[in-house]
Amino acid sequence: MPKTRTLARAPSPKGTSRNIELAPSILSADFAQLAADAKAALEGGGTLLHVDVMDGHFVPNITIGPPVVASLRKALPDVIFDCHLMIERPDEFIPAFAEAGANWISVHQEACVHLDRTLHLIESQGCRPAVVINPATPVEMLDEVLEIVHHVLVMSVNPGFGGQRFIRGALRKIDALARTRQARGLRYRIEVDGGVGLDTVTDVVRAGADLLVAGNAVFGHGDIRENAKRLLQAARSATLTRT
Ligand code: DX5
Ligand code: ZN
Repeated sequence: MPKTRTLARAPSPKGTSRNIELAPSILSADFAQLAADAKAALEGGGTLLHVDVMDGHFVPNITIGPPVVASLRKALPDVIFDCHLMIERPDEFIPAFAEAGANWISVHQEACVHLDRTLHLIESQGCRPAVVINPATPVEMLDEVLEIVHHVLVMSVNPGFGGQRFIRGALRKIDALARTRQARGLRYRIEVDGGVGLDTVTDVVRAGADLLVAGNAVFGHGDIRENAKRLLQAARSATLTRT
């Protein structure tokens, strides 16, 4: 199937007009009605779907594999699938996720001995390559790959489970990535994942994140559409209130 292409936007200073997007994480959806829940989150303003892939080795949990992505792709032919691989040996599975309909594929720096090779493999499969860092990994570990990634995903929880508490050290990393992007004239986007909700979204947007992953805050309670809408509104208003 043809891949949906979105070009990375040129960076703009924090606080001015920015392309803030909400990526609902289906990890917290009701898997028995996955497509319906995902559609509700998209109707609420989500523009991509964040798909958490866990193998029980890199992280202490198991979630979904390529068949689920392929089924979801049939139900949602046009939306961008942002596949976050929390797995060991990602090179062995990247082609299967691309074939299943992934658009963006992110791999953990901590899981990739040959990170540059893995990012090029993702690109060769027709997907946008991205790199993820865990809370204990410094942003400096990414210096050599910032020119080839579509986005950098900063984990603001230790990966493995939804509904965890936001780790505030992520804010400093997001800020550092935004400054580096500006200083080096690069175009990568900055995504944040874990504990993003109405209580933390203003800080993450002000720090410089433009792709906001949210699972529990969107699917965890109440009306999915309304939750997504409120979160996105709060994120967008954070760009207007301060630099
Ligand atoms: C954690 C996952 C996250 C998770 C975020 O390992 O990568 O995407 O679903 O969930 P919340 O928003 O509930 O913290
Ligand atoms: Zn994730």
